[in-house]
Amino acid sequence: MKLFLLFYTLFTVVCCAAQTAANYNTHIKPLLQTHCMPCHNGNNIGTMPLTDYKNVSAYAKMIGYVTQNNIMPPWKAEQGYNHIKNTSTLNTAEIKLIKNWIDSGLIQGKAPAKQNVNPPGKTASINKPDLVFAMQKPFAQKENFTERAQVFVIPVNLNEDVFAEAIEFIPGNKKIVKSCSISIDTSGKAAQYDSYDLNYGYYSPVGLNFIPYQYNWYQWTADMQGATFYNKPYLKKIPANSHIVLHIFYAASVAAQKDSSYVKIKLCKKQDISRFINSRVLFTPNTITNGPFVINADEKRNFYATVSLQKPIEIHSIMPMGQNACTSWEIYAIDSVTGRRTDILSIPRWDAHWRKKYDFSIPIQLTKGSKIFAVASYNNSEGNASLIILPAKKIIYGESERNEMFIVQYDVVELAE
Ligand code: HEC
Repeated sequence: MKLFLLFYTLFTVVCCAAQTAANYNTHIKPLLQTHCMPCHNGNNIGTMPLTDYKNVSAYAKMIGYVTQNNIMPPWKAEQGYNHIKNTSTLNTAEIKLIKNWIDSGLIQGKAPAKQNVNPPGKTASINKPDLVFAMQKPFAQKENFTERAQVFVIPVNLNEDVFAEAIEFIPGNKKIVKSCSISIDTSGKAAQYDSYDLNYGYYSPVGLNFIPYQYNWYQWTADMQGATFYNKPYLKKIPANSHIVLHIFYAASVAAQKDSSYVKIKLCKKQDISRFINSRVLFTPNTITNGPFVINADEKRNFYATVSLQKPIEIHSIMPMGQNACTSWEIYAIDSVTGRRTDILSIPRWDAHWRKKYDFSIPIQLTKGSKIFAVASYNNSEGNASLIILPAKKIIYGESERNEMFIVQYDVVELAE
């Protein structure tokens, strides 16, 4: 009986794979709708629209290349390492399906009766925001502008601390706004940097030049639509006398462009202050156990770091930050009592152009005394196609593009012991 079933299964698989060659309308379009169209829709940073058969077949060769080489979609976390919200990766079968469709001659197939109009992954917007923090004037990009990041500092001016239950970033110019990291500064440093720079805002390629009170408090990428709602009792704090700091990453553009982006906030009426989510730094170069953080020319190196927990915590999201010499990250925890390992995040192919904050489907609970480990790899040799300084030179820690970073930021709730 078992043998029969096995034969039967094998036979069905072979028969059907041969029968149904992939076609655009049935197989390819739904995949592109989920994984590509959030950015490649003609009105977003994805350079070409991948919305209809004509365009998709015209770019078929490139689509095959970028999917088979894991370049697109630009989601970098390893699938299955941990449960991350709104994952956007193609699995091996889906990549093969696209390849088969290309190899078998771009069959269009019949248009389905019902069209899926709403792009998937779209969540509700904040219709009546309690607060809006907007750039105070437009940022002007000249023509032939290369990729660049600019920091905008917006004063909060409130009478008391408030707590957000939903946050929504609205990009002013979707053609160039690639991502935005929002932080909260209570030190006045961001405003000081702003005053030194003659342009609106200040130039900073990666971080903010300092570590603010709430670092990467909210992070938006071009494939996100709608607001992020926090589940009560989890809230995000905005201190009365602070600055909202928008760090916007702009894509390259041939034509001159302008951007005026803003943030909408929905406040929570019943405050449960004991449970707000802090956006803090988990790993800095000071936590490295095989330092100092120096990478010589033509050297490949791993750096290892450890943090011991003084309190039990819950991790809601995580965001590593490296630059162009950086090639991978792995972050995990070991429980002090049971010795049990908890996987947190793995990015096997780090790409500084696609930095992202990864939100966990279920917050990761860690006990007091647990240790969190991070391993980051760097390749400062010609074999690394992302290096911008060639021939390679010795690299030290720093936020300028000539230096390298080792920072992991996380969203954390400290629990009672
Ligand atoms: C988060 C937004 C985003 C998503 C999602 C996305 N792309 Fe892209 N894609 C871009 C941007 C931006 C570029 C321009 C090049 C760059 O900045 O890396 C690009 C470039 C490309 C290119 C041109 C590559 C080159 O060398 O010029 C192709 C082909 C492509 N994407 C296909 C896809 C496909 C297929 C998917 C889905 C499987 C996808 N993209 C998903 C943003 C995205």
